[in-house]
Amino acid sequence: MADRKAVVLVARRTFDDAIARLREHFEVRVNDDDAVWPQDELIRRLQGVQGVYITGSEQIDATLLDACPDLRAVCSMAVGYNNVDLPACTARGVLVSNAPDVLTETTADFGFALMMATARRISESEHFLRRGEWHKWSYDMFAGSDVHGSTLGILGMGRIGQAIARRGHLGFGMRVIYHNRSRLAPALEAPLAAQWVEKDALLQQADHLVIVVPYSPASHHAIGARELGLMKPSATLTNIARGGVVDDAALAQALATRRIAAAGLDVFEGEPQVHPGLLTVPNVVLTPHIASASIPTRLAMSHLAVDNLIAALSGGRPPTALNP
Ligand code: DGY
Repeated sequence: MADRKAVVLVARRTFDDAIARLREHFEVRVNDDDAVWPQDELIRRLQGVQGVYITGSEQIDATLLDACPDLRAVCSMAVGYNNVDLPACTARGVLVSNAPDVLTETTADFGFALMMATARRISESEHFLRRGEWHKWSYDMFAGSDVHGSTLGILGMGRIGQAIARRGHLGFGMRVIYHNRSRLAPALEAPLAAQWVEKDALLQQADHLVIVVPYSPASHHAIGARELGLMKPSATLTNIARGGVVDDAALAQALATRRIAAAGLDVFEGEPQVHPGLLTVPNVVLTPHIASASIPTRLAMSHLAVDNLIAALSGGRPPTALNP
């Protein structure tokens, strides 16, 4: 009798092409409704499943792993993996992979766009126009801050941070400063003309602060009231990393009191809920966690997760495995 095919659960809807590739190798179950299943439902759906395709929304923790003993591979289409307990997976022999690199440039494009929209008050002025409030031109109407020639501060200088620095330095003549746990090698710093600074100096000097540091207990509320208090009143803050890196309540307060000029946010604490204080201040551009959402990039992320599942369940190491 032929070996039984491994069973794969696609925990959130994805591209048909990616699912078709999985069907060539596995018995595939798909969450066609695209609902975000509560944890008990996810556990129920994972019974008898060897591989799971996830996004950044599913929580893979020790309780789930113990309740799903057949699970051998957890492959995410996201680069961020703070929703997966990697040590718990490794301890149980479960392979874990994410989807790095394929989204770097697209996410950097979006981060830059969000920073520019924030600095130049694009959302705020569009809402004004849509409300029918535009009656005359005025010399300082929605005057914002310049991006070109200003100081770009980057918190977290991984692949996406470097791609943003490249845009800032080469495209907009910005001075690039960054803070990261470790300093980039001189060969990486030099083409970006990027200068490592202490975190407080970054906050004090940046005209435009862009946050791209991964979420972990160490980066929880890395930007709170104290840090916002160090920033220039004219500065903007853009967060494309993860909710939780910024204390959204403190940020809402800093925006309401004009402690800083404006913010651009693609990620939120407790998303898809958004802190009510952020919904009522005008000086913030809000987007629903779409920084990597171009069609080619989302397709590439999806196919990379499929590559990883195929490798993992064929006894190989996934190309972008995270386990040590
Ligand atoms: C990622 O890939 O981590 C994006 O934030 C989407 O979850």
